[in-house]
Amino acid sequence: MGNYDLLKTNWKKLKDQVTDQAKKLEKPSLQKEYDSNAKLIDLVPYEKFSIGQASFAKVAYQRRSRRKGSDQPLTLEELSFLLFFTNGVKRMDRPMFRTVPSAGARHAFETYIQVVRVKGIDEGLYRYLPLSHQLLFVKKGSNDEVITGFLGQNFNAGVLFMWTAIPYRMAYRYKSETEKLILIDVGHLCQNLYLACEAVGLGACGIGAYDQEYIDSYLEVDSNEEFVVYNATVVK
Ligand SMILES: Cc1cc2nc3c(=O)[nH]c(=O)nc-3n(C[C@H](O)[C@H](O)[C@H](O)COP(=O)(O)O)c2cc1C
Repeated sequence: MGNYDLLKTNWKKLKDQVTDQAKKLEKPSLQKEYDSNAKLIDLVPYEKFSIGQASFAKVAYQRRSRRKGSDQPLTLEELSFLLFFTNGVKRMDRPMFRTVPSAGARHAFETYIQVVRVKGIDEGLYRYLPLSHQLLFVKKGSNDEVITGFLGQNFNAGVLFMWTAIPYRMAYRYKSETEKLILIDVGHLCQNLYLACEAVGLGACGIGAYDQEYIDSYLEVDSNEEFVVYNATVVK
């Protein structure tokens, strides 16, 4: 038998726990820090999107996991669209509104992408900065390494998504509910990726079968305070 307790809630127990928020400890940051000298790429903002006008009914109906990519590169606008609708910020003041829901607006995720083929962007590993809607260059890395981490699942993808969780952002308020809420939340990100892809003629496939240690090490995260919880491939 598995640890099914993880899937259940015990909200009443939470009332007896003193959270770090209740102790008024410093709030966890909404976005991981980065070096101010790092190379940043401005993404196309929501107001300038010219794509993705298909009806919701059509998009939701035709959604499926797509595993056959062409050699065509994605455009910067397409990539911007996917990043904005999977984890973008709509309103910065408090409470902050984003394109995906999150329990208590904790938004415990960071989005990393390995760019394989995007017009005008060098191949490599990047991190999305939702607060400024930019891409942070992390390293050149290697597409093959990410694909190895995805246990060989490639699908000739143009972009490989990797979502890490920083559990403390959730634990700060929800303590023993953290695991369940993070797992529910990450599904929202990937579902939006699926729908955003369908809306612009791309295809997504969620990747839950991956090598945890390998991808964590590729992303240079410590596997404890930050680790991968879900991934996806995007094909054109
Ligand atoms: C949590 C999750 C993990 C998944 N992991 C993989 C995966 O590792 N490899 C893969 O090819 N498909 C993966 N999929 C896609 C499913 O196989 C797919 O959603 C399912 O077969 C239903 O097909 P559809 O998405 O086209 O409706 C995953 C889907 C989900 C929701």
